Amino acid sequence: MDQLGMKINVSREALKYLDDNILLGMGSGTTVEIFIEEMSKVGFKGLRIVPSSRRIDKILREKGYSVVELEDKCDLYIDGADAVDRELRMIKGGGGALTREKIIAYNSLKRIIIVDETKMRENFEGIYLPVEILVFSFKSTMKRIRDLGLNIRLRGQDSPFITDNGNYIVDVLIESKSHLEDISRKIKEIPGVIETGFFKDLADTVLIGKRDGGVEKISKIS
Ligand code: A5P
Repeated sequence: MDQLGMKINVSREALKYLDDNILLGMGSGTTVEIFIEEMSKVGFKGLRIVPSSRRIDKILREKGYSVVELEDKCDLYIDGADAVDRELRMIKGGGGALTREKIIAYNSLKRIIIVDETKMRENFEGIYLPVEILVFSFKSTMKRIRDLGLNIRLRGQDSPFITDNGNYIVDVLIESKSHLEDISRKIKEIPGVIETGFFKDLADTVLIGKRDGGVEKISKIS
C-alpha cells in the first residue's frame, strides 16, 4: 500500500473517535486534509471545529462545517505529525502551523495523532526541528540559536516562509539522538522564539497506517 492509502486508512480509523456535536480541534497537513475529506463523506455536520491554520479553516468552511474560535478546551484534537517515537513524542511544524497546533493540543481533553508508518522513528537524529520566531529580531535570534552549537536554516531562504501568525520558521538540525528535549527547552528560552515543534505529552493515542493495510494503535489511555 502507498502512503496515500495508509493516510486514508488511518483517517477512517480515527473517525471512530468522533461524535457529532463535540468541539473538535483540528491540526494541519496533508493527513489532516485527507481526514477532513473522509469525515465529510460520513457527515458529522453537527461538529464545531477549531482549525489550526487558515488553510484548514478554509477547507472546513467550504465543506460546510462550523468553524469556531478556541475559547476553552476542545473535547478532542486530531492532527498529523512529521515524526513520532514510541513514547509518543513528536516533531511537528513541517507545514508551519506548529504554534497554533500546540496551543490547541494543549487545550484539548483527548489528543489523537494520525500518521502513516513512514513517520515512526526510534529517535529524532537527523531530523529538523521547526522553530517559529519573530520577524523583528530574526537575525539575532538565529545567532543565539547558533550559539547553542546548532545547525539551522531559515525556511524559504530568499523569500522566507511566513506563518499564519506573521512570523518566520527556522529549521534546526537535531544532530544527536538524545538531546531533543534539552535543545527545545534552551531554544524556547531565547527571546524572539515563539514556539518549537517538539511536542511532548501532547498525544494520548497515535494511530499508524501500515503498508500492509492495517492500523496500529499506541495509546496512553484506554
Ligand atoms: C503542520 O505544521 C505540521 O505540524 C503537520 O501536522 C505535519 O507536518 C504533518 O503533515 P503531513 O500530514 O502533511 O505529513
